[in-house]
Amino acid sequence: MAKHDMHGNKSTVLTVLFAALILTANASAQDRQIEQKVDALLKQMTLEEKVGQLHQLSGRDLTGPANNKNTNILAEIRKGKIGSMLNVKGVAETREVQAAALQSRLKIPLLLSLDVIHGYKTIFPIPLAEAASWDLPAIEQSAHIAAKEAAASGIHWTFAPMVDISRDPRWGRVMEGAGEDTYLGSQIAKARVLGFQGRKLGGTDAIMATAKHFAAYGAAIAGRDYNAVDMSEHQLWETYLPPFKAAVDAGVATFMNSFNTLNGIPATGSSYLQRDILKGAWKYQGFVVSDWASIAEMVKHGYAADIPDAAQKAINAGSDMDMEGFAYSSSLVQLVKSGKVKTALLDDAVKRILYKKFELGLFDDPYRFSDAKREQEVLNDPSHRLIARDIARKSLVLLKNDKQTLPLNKAAKSIAVIGPLADAHRDLEGGWIVKSDAGQVASLLDGIRSHVTKDTEVIFASGCDVACTKTDGFSAALAAADKADTVLLVLGESWDMSGEAKSRTDLGLPGLQTQLFEALQAKGKPVTVVIMAGRPLVFNAVADQASAILYTWFAGSEGGNAIADVLFGDYSPSGKLPMTFPRNVGQIPISYEQYETGRPVQDVKNVVYKSAYIDAPNTPRYAFGHGLSYTDFSYSNLSLSTTSMQPGSTVTVSFDLRNTGKRDGEEVVQLYLRDPVASIVRPVKQLKGFQKIKLAAGEQKRVAFSIDQAMLSFYDSKLKWIAEPGKFIIMLGSASDDIRLSDELQLLDKPK
Ligand code: BGC
Repeated sequence: MAKHDMHGNKSTVLTVLFAALILTANASAQDRQIEQKVDALLKQMTLEEKVGQLHQLSGRDLTGPANNKNTNILAEIRKGKIGSMLNVKGVAETREVQAAALQSRLKIPLLLSLDVIHGYKTIFPIPLAEAASWDLPAIEQSAHIAAKEAAASGIHWTFAPMVDISRDPRWGRVMEGAGEDTYLGSQIAKARVLGFQGRKLGGTDAIMATAKHFAAYGAAIAGRDYNAVDMSEHQLWETYLPPFKAAVDAGVATFMNSFNTLNGIPATGSSYLQRDILKGAWKYQGFVVSDWASIAEMVKHGYAADIPDAAQKAINAGSDMDMEGFAYSSSLVQLVKSGKVKTALLDDAVKRILYKKFELGLFDDPYRFSDAKREQEVLNDPSHRLIARDIARKSLVLLKNDKQTLPLNKAAKSIAVIGPLADAHRDLEGGWIVKSDAGQVASLLDGIRSHVTKDTEVIFASGCDVACTKTDGFSAALAAADKADTVLLVLGESWDMSGEAKSRTDLGLPGLQTQLFEALQAKGKPVTVVIMAGRPLVFNAVADQASAILYTWFAGSEGGNAIADVLFGDYSPSGKLPMTFPRNVGQIPISYEQYETGRPVQDVKNVVYKSAYIDAPNTPRYAFGHGLSYTDFSYSNLSLSTTSMQPGSTVTVSFDLRNTGKRDGEEVVQLYLRDPVASIVRPVKQLKGFQKIKLAAGEQKRVAFSIDQAMLSFYDSKLKWIAEPGKFIIMLGSASDDIRLSDELQLLDKPK
């Protein structure tokens, strides 16, 4: 390197370091200033005003059971009895409630929150779909746009991301998360937090994020929402907590606790989770909001005798704000006066909340997020739709493509577009929609019409509705198929079959949808099936017989166009499953991350006294990480920088990835590791890294991963995080069941 270059680089490094130092110094000076302001304000507050800060109330929209309390909200706000509201949105509404807060004695602004789960006005694919993109920058960008739109509409705070791991597709809320895997889930948790919050709170394009639901909510027994969770400490630490820790590390402003009991203790009343782990071991400085009435619900759980008892248990356990539960508002003043709750605990909760209000700049300008002009501009920014279309394309998963059925020909003479979801608009948006207009959503049928040539005839027949209880419409559908060269069938769930309180025991295609498929299939023409759903469904007949299957989840405002982009080959599919697709409900819970048994199946034809089912294989229908492309990729020339790893060092694993097909495409290369002998039996494989790589047809690239000791570590029987010396197996592949390269690595027990 030339001398002046070196000098140039060095001075750049120094400048960057210096700038970083100044930033950190400024940040901590700002932190101290905020702390002083919070302390000064707290000193002026009455006990009632303090309790008011912990009370959160819903506006007109309900996202949980109605409480039947006829509160005069504005009057209560003026009395300083409400610190935060949810479900108030738009400049006009948010200004109205904020104005009331400014009439209270201390003029403490309200925090306004909303479930901005996958977009505000522009609806992005449901979170599980975005997880299928494995595209962290795209996921971050989608959250950022959601934040920008919500922030222009007066919102300060979203109840997202949901970072609950779940291995049970019966649970309807899998649609809100990132799927089954701890590593992928942790990466996505971080991307979403950074997307919503930006690098720092205080900008008007950033809102506070919430890591929810703390903790283990995704492991509800039998996939029934709100159900109890019974889990080993080991599994909690190893599988369910890391995405929350990743959110803390990314600076998430708030946490939400959860409805479930965990080993007998409601999460909302769990000091272990909230005080010991979150605010203790993880030194978390943000605040914890309860879930909807989850404090009061501790009475129904049988954990608290009455509402005051529930309030006492929740605040002592570290729940700072009571969402819609009226437990704190009705009992805390008395509990503090009687000494049952220490003032210091109340003060700590209030301070955490006030701190965020200062950090967001609400004391400088309580209306800074409610700006009519910005709302108008931001909500109508056309670039948001383009970005939504891009991530939607990346989220679709090509499950099957026999004989290159896809992509379809734009110049086909005729295409039959059949099925209950072919012309759906609202369903494409999925659940948790707060402000969109389904009238602005192009259906897949619209998308197809805008892709084909003007001479192509598009023949539409729904066949039946989503519930599909009657066969009346089948004959029109069959007639459409008769007339067309190409048959496309669009099946799946309606938007409201997944989400909160939408657990299902039967994951099949609803009603007679499978019969509709079979009737069409019997025509002998290749049938391409598009499946829209909020969770992995079970569709064996389709999986066995259809020529091609594209799983699209609920792909958002631009879903119809994005799906058509993929069907016609404008974009080569690149999504990979973030959850295992079972063959039937009896295999659930299911994950690629299993443990070997003492009776493994060696020969599927002989499972006597083996760990197996007698009526179905152990393998899933589609494995975690599976997803095809219109091109092919080869993996070769694996090499390790060393096969003996010194403790504390890193090893580089590299290989050649080549696009061997005729089209450009993207591959998600996946790195899995196994510790084959350990003091605690380790899973057969665990995802520890991935990269999404774009290659032109024929292009080749050397791909490298760095393996460090943390990637070889686990919680031992004493819950100590350790790496045990010995052999590790490194696997690289295109899916958890499609490992292309592997090698061994020895972790040495002391430096050589
Ligand atoms: C859900 C939360 C949500 C809250 C507010 C609850 O029922 O569990 O995830 O943020 O309602 O809408």
